[in-house]
Amino acid sequence: MRGAATWTLLICLLIGLFYGDICRASPIGGEDAPLSDYQDDDYDYDGEDESTNSEGPPAEIVEEVQSEPPYFEQSDVSIEARPGDDVIINCDARNFAIKNIALWYKNATLLATGQSAINNRVEVMKNNSLRITGVTKEDADDYYCEVLPQNVRQHTALRVGAKLSILCDDRDATDRSQTFKQGDRHKLTCQTFLHTKTDIKWSFNGQRLHTSEKDAAEGVVVLDNVDEENAGVYQCLGDDGSADPPHGMVTIDVQYSPKVSTHRHHVNTIEGDTAELYCDYRASPIAISFFIKDGKTLSLSEKYSIKNSLHKEHNRTTLIIKNVEASDLGEYLCHVENAIGSNEVRIQLSYHPETPQFENSSINGNEITMHWLVRSLQPLSEAMLDYKLSMSYTWSTVSIIHTQRHDKDKGIWKITHQMELTPGLWHARIKTKNTEGWSNFSPDHDILIKDQEESTEIDDGVVPPDDLVRAGFGVGAGSKSNSACTMRMLPAVMLVGVSIAMLRL
Ligand SMILES: *[C@@H]1O[C@H](CO)[C@@H](O)[C@H](O)[C@H]1NC(C)=O
Ligand SMILES: *[C@@H]1O[C@H](CO)[C@@H](O)[C@H](O)[C@H]1NC(C)=O
Ligand SMILES: *[C@@H]1O[C@H](CO)[C@@H](O)[C@H](O)[C@H]1NC(C)=O
Ligand SMILES: *[C@@H]1O[C@H](CO)[C@@H](O)[C@H](O)[C@H]1NC(C)=O
Repeated sequence: MRGAATWTLLICLLIGLFYGDICRASPIGGEDAPLSDYQDDDYDYDGEDESTNSEGPPAEIVEEVQSEPPYFEQSDVSIEARPGDDVIINCDARNFAIKNIALWYKNATLLATGQSAINNRVEVMKNNSLRITGVTKEDADDYYCEVLPQNVRQHTALRVGAKLSILCDDRDATDRSQTFKQGDRHKLTCQTFLHTKTDIKWSFNGQRLHTSEKDAAEGVVVLDNVDEENAGVYQCLGDDGSADPPHGMVTIDVQYSPKVSTHRHHVNTIEGDTAELYCDYRASPIAISFFIKDGKTLSLSEKYSIKNSLHKEHNRTTLIIKNVEASDLGEYLCHVENAIGSNEVRIQLSYHPETPQFENSSINGNEITMHWLVRSLQPLSEAMLDYKLSMSYTWSTVSIIHTQRHDKDKGIWKITHQMELTPGLWHARIKTKNTEGWSNFSPDHDILIKDQEESTEIDDGVVPPDDLVRAGFGVGAGSKSNSACTMRMLPAVMLVGVSIAMLRL
């Protein structure tokens, strides 16, 4: 037994070379009343064993040496915390004896030896646990509890969550991207983990998002029947009144079936020419497109070629038809499909003028001047203008026959019409005729003629003179319409300068 005691002292001396002050500190710590709480059962048990046959050496030293070395049941632990939480990181060593001492490290930096903390962010508890009050992002790190003299370590990774997080359907999606499918319903929830009151503010692509009062109170944005327009960046701000409020974002991608359109539903062509049909689409994921005529998919040939181009808002597939003949006329279908679905647009190829497009207008008092554009490789022979007050059922028509010859090269015509109208909301539309036939009517164009004076005869309900009514009927197409309605409408029609000038562009 004497030999054992010497051995023990030798070990202590050796340790002392490296941990001089610790070795000295430990018996002092042992005298501390509270620390004795942690001289657990193992310690007492070992003590009993030794005391039965120990003679000379102080029990304490013998017990230390003879006891099992301390160890950790788990060498790696992780802790998740929210900013502001009080966190306790345990140093749960088994066989932790009076002679042992715990050191705390934050990554490579020493935080505490025994119960004395070097860093004032932390506090070491009597059971060696480390306590951090009100954790912040800066506290997130790797913490090590090292038990001397055996140098056994336990690693604890402390993660401190964001002050704010965005949940997408109850799963964290903060600063990530999510893909939604067209038609689905999703919920974005913004949560803050602050101990102060915050006002949750959502924005979408930089614009403030306004939601229902209930959703706003809960920090929720509900996307119902998701579609392309819901794709973008959603940002959430937890306005706590500070200069640097917590915020987060989530990028939403939406997968949808192709949206197909064309800017020319009717394409004018002329025999022997090369015609181009345009098919514009947007799709996610990527889509394929092809053209169909009379139920057959068109394949590349002498006759047909395809051009694909990328535009800002859409992708375009152009069908080029060479050497047009009568059999090429008719309806073409542009079919676009992707993994989500398919859509089509119909395009008519004909010798008739294309549907006139409203260009612009100017209003001067009661007088309006309107401009339309029409494509026709064949000369335009005639244009017809319809107009009516918005509450009227019938159109009045102005028809002009042109004898003037036009240069055919560019095939774009400008139609200008000037007329005087009484105050009110009017609609106007035109169609044009070339040597092959009539175009469709243009979409209605709305004209608002503002009241020039405080009160007019019409507003006072004064019935206009008969001759004016008859004059109106002369041009109008609504001679059979209901009298009350016609009476109010007709005096308003005062065509001053019915002039359609067809100008080449
Ligand atoms: C140490 O003490 C603290 C506070 O009393 C307690 O929360 C923690 O669980 C204890 N650790 C161990 C390993 O018992
Ligand atoms: C620990 O420190 C090293 C070196 O200083 C550093 O590279 C590493 O990122 C740190 N680990 C953490 C979790 O901060
Ligand atoms: C256009 O096509 C390209 C690939 O050819 C694709 O990456 C892009 O997303 C498409 N754009 C639209 C708006 O569909
Ligand atoms: C109408 O558009 C043309 C060009 O397309 C322009 O020269 C003209 O000034 C415009 N008129 C009005 C009233 O905006």
